[in-house]
Amino acid sequence: MNESTLIVFTGDKGGVGKSTLAVLMTEWLLSQGTKVHLVDADPNQTAKIWTEKCESRGYKASAPDAPVTIADTAGTSGASLNKYIRQADIIVVPFQPHVADLETVVGWFLSINAELQGRVVFVPNRLTHTKEQRDGLEELRKILKEVGRGRLAPGLADRPAVYPPLFNGRKENFFNLPVDEKVKQEVHATFRSIMKR
Ligand SMILES: Nc1ncnc2c1ncn2[C@@H]1O[C@H](COP(=O)(O)OP(=O)(O)OP(=O)(O)O)[C@@H](O)[C@H]1O
Ligand SMILES: [Mg+2]
Repeated sequence: MNESTLIVFTGDKGGVGKSTLAVLMTEWLLSQGTKVHLVDADPNQTAKIWTEKCESRGYKASAPDAPVTIADTAGTSGASLNKYIRQADIIVVPFQPHVADLETVVGWFLSINAELQGRVVFVPNRLTHTKEQRDGLEELRKILKEVGRGRLAPGLADRPAVYPPLFNGRKENFFNLPVDEKVKQEVHATFRSIMKR
């Protein structure tokens, strides 16, 4: 284990919540008293822009010397794979539990070596608890059980009023704001599960 913990958010599907979860986990760790270095390996720079917005308002959300590094990436191939995924202590793969999205993430998971598989945590995002989603999650559970590696975190519900405004940036930690109890619970459950190794 490195001195500092590296948590990498990745996955080949676009728009599934990698940056949302990377930013939210940064906020969550900070609210728990753990400093975070948030690095952005995505050319879109969603996480970096967020960090800069917060900084311009006097809130320093990212510190280079922090004990935890969170990396937001654009996907699982090329430079991201070499630079971040191989070095990661925890590889977080957000996904929307539709059959089509699952095929992509499961295909990637089955293509990586056993050691890397053991570091993967899948995070269902935008849960609406439809039958299609339940079936998708059941399918993934079965696959992880068969493989004997990889984990599934509880995940986040689809909350258009809560999660998209995260990227606006703030002058203080997200969890200092009045946050709905249900939101707090799902965030705690998901990130505690990611940290549990
Ligand atoms: N749980 C959620 N509820 C509602 N909206 C969400 C949720 N998670 C993410 N979103 C929204 O979905 C969109 C895509 O999320 P995000 O940018 O985090 O995905 P990404 O995987 O980083 O995308 P990209 O591949 O473009 O980097 C954003 O507008 C975000 O606000
Ligand atoms: Mg992103």
